[in-house]
Amino acid sequence: SQPESVLLCPLGTAAAPETELLCIFGTGDMGRSLGQRLLQAGYRVVYGSRRPHSCGPLPAGTQVMSHAAAAKLATLVFLCVHRKKYDFLETLAPQLNGKVLVDVSNNLKEDVYPESNAEYLQRLIPGAHVVKAFNTISAWALQNGPSDANRQVLVCGNCAEAKQTVVAVATKLGFAVLDNGSLSAARELEEFPLRLFPEWRLPLRLAVGLTATFFFYLVIRDVVYSYVEDGKDISFRIMVSLANKVCPIVAIIMLALCYLPGVVAAILQLYRGTKYKRFPDWLDRWMLCRKQLGLLSLGFAFLHVLYTLIIPFRHYVRYRIAASTILKMRENTTAVLDTTLAWRTDSFYSMGILGFGVYILLGITSLPSVSNALSWREFSFVQSKLGYLTLFLCTFHTYLYGWNKFLSPSNYRWYTPPGYMLSLVLPSIVLVLKLLLLVPCVDRSLTRIRQGWERTDPE
Ligand code: HEM
Repeated sequence: SQPESVLLCPLGTAAAPETELLCIFGTGDMGRSLGQRLLQAGYRVVYGSRRPHSCGPLPAGTQVMSHAAAAKLATLVFLCVHRKKYDFLETLAPQLNGKVLVDVSNNLKEDVYPESNAEYLQRLIPGAHVVKAFNTISAWALQNGPSDANRQVLVCGNCAEAKQTVVAVATKLGFAVLDNGSLSAARELEEFPLRLFPEWRLPLRLAVGLTATFFFYLVIRDVVYSYVEDGKDISFRIMVSLANKVCPIVAIIMLALCYLPGVVAAILQLYRGTKYKRFPDWLDRWMLCRKQLGLLSLGFAFLHVLYTLIIPFRHYVRYRIAASTILKMRENTTAVLDTTLAWRTDSFYSMGILGFGVYILLGITSLPSVSNALSWREFSFVQSKLGYLTLFLCTFHTYLYGWNKFLSPSNYRWYTPPGYMLSLVLPSIVLVLKLLLLVPCVDRSLTRIRQGWERTDPE
């Protein structure tokens, strides 16, 4: 037999509880998209507008009325208007008292106002519970529904209950929620959408700076030098020969810069005798952009490999080979195979290929999908051991390329060293320092420090 209470509620009649009514102030893009999604998630939506009769098309099924009337109906109000227009809210303070007020606003630039929009709002309406949320989600993402890349709604606010209400709405809309704490975090949330690849900024500037410096250096040393000293115009070499010098030079310097901060940090820890002192800010910032430095460097190395692959097709190279063959035929001479040269070039290519191979492996393990599948030990093994191996192989490749040219004065045109010699300075320093750190007694001290041991200096 059925319990009586169920029989009292026959199917189809008012069994469902009244759906919650939410209010949105503002009928712009964000307001409309948010309203649409809220409707889809099963909420009722009422808009508050300055001109309820002429505010343009709104999602079907929503109502629009004056701000005061709309605010009275709902316990939660989304504020989708620009900060500049917040003044009108002061007159609505009585209606907004005790309500949850969700600030979704963003600014066009950082640091325009002394306080965050949400804190300003809280100051205007002290009686409301202001929650900052949804500002990191674009109107476009709201319309399309959450995709992997924009699934997170960041939330902050001073009233835990108010925050919980907003979290429930965001979850119902299909977003993952990340609680960022009190309203004092609002500034950080408001800066979030303005960010443009912040961790890439320093490595990119460095790459541009190094490329420009070496490009001009090599143009002067190669092209201008030839023109001035020999009267020959070899400017065509800028396109491939010069590019194929600048790219590997920038690549190897940036690769060394990836591993230099780790070595500097180790020396600093050894010197201080503890791991508990903070590193200087510049070192922290440098350490944090190692991945980007490495990936950019890999990009330059890849270009170097591509440029190297096309060498045999170059008109200039084919012309040189043909000319030397014809000359030998005319002179009726044959060249003998120089096995030393063959050894040298083969080993230098081989080191380059091996270096590039390990380098690709490093690049692959830095992809989040791969690195997330590795344990911390595996990840640091790959990034550190294979990293130094890459640096070693690439440096060796460049030393072999230089071979005995380091000693011949004719290579120092206008008293300047060739680009690859300059490029070898940093990698060599890093490798020597790393070797010193691997000396058993030094390594033992460093390991102890990293396990938490501290040197206590005698008073
Ligand atoms: C130079 C081949 C990978 C760094 C060269 C040159 C060749 C070459 C043919 C001489 C270019 C010229 O005549 O101007 C290769 C091959 C590689 C490879 C076949 C792998 C498939 C790498 C990698 C690095 C590197 C991964 C390091 C990031 C250098 C440097 C030079 C050089 C610094 C000297 C550039 C200069 O002329 O000033 N490589 N390379 N190479 N390579 Fe590589």
